[in-house]
Amino acid sequence: MFAKVKPNTQIIGQNIIYFNQVASTNEFALELIKQNLAENGTVVIAEFQSKGRGQYGKSWISEPFENLMFSIILKHVTKSAPDPFTINKIITLAMYQQLKSELPDHSVAIKWPNDILVNGKKICGILVENNFSGATLKHSVIGIGLNVNQHFEHIMHLNATSLSGLKGTETDRELLLKNILETIESIYLSYLEKGNETICTKFDKALYGFGTIGAFDIDGQILMAEVLGCDQLGQLILEINGKDHHYPHGSIKQYIA
Ligand code: BTN
Repeated sequence: MFAKVKPNTQIIGQNIIYFNQVASTNEFALELIKQNLAENGTVVIAEFQSKGRGQYGKSWISEPFENLMFSIILKHVTKSAPDPFTINKIITLAMYQQLKSELPDHSVAIKWPNDILVNGKKICGILVENNFSGATLKHSVIGIGLNVNQHFEHIMHLNATSLSGLKGTETDRELLLKNILETIESIYLSYLEKGNETICTKFDKALYGFGTIGAFDIDGQILMAEVLGCDQLGQLILEINGKDHHYPHGSIKQYIA
């Protein structure tokens, strides 16, 4: 069980709900919103999820007591609510920066739109579920699954890695969670204060394949392309044979070398 984590933040993680077991921290957080019980910045964390949710309707399976699985509730109170992809960028960039500082000797990258890879293997998955009122974004539930102390070396087909697998030592998960919440908040506050320009630039530069030519499956064809960044809709911009093309999430597959 987690010791009580006290992040040095104003919003994120000032209220933390701990579970030994829950179906899904995202599901629980969405239920809090539905019942009008969601405080801005609430973190829901579990040691084990029986129905952990992943992207594309897949499940997220993680060994109990070894990793980090948590959801953050953001209540959008500013006059102009952020667009969903800005939220995705803030969180993904924060996880990227945190993992870069944990693993200075490894190659850390964002696989568009929101996976974090280390040396080409997945270490962190993010699932943002948004709650709208009409066209206005009201709440975001940001679910983060980070491989910390579980070993993946023997599960080759997953192409996954973890902090302990890379460092060779166990990581203190409470301290790591505290640092992550502080990193997320600092990027979120800088967005609220200054907008998303710097965040977008940093996000683009951290993308796997940024500034290099790599292989993509586009409409069943294997093409070589360079990642230029993301547009305002969160579409990936690729340069192919000197021309820019914008691709929505799920429409192309990037090959990892
Ligand atoms: C992915 O498929 O890469 C996204 C995985 C997101 C998993 C996290 S674990 C905590 C939170 N609760 C869930 O049910 N899913 C997210």
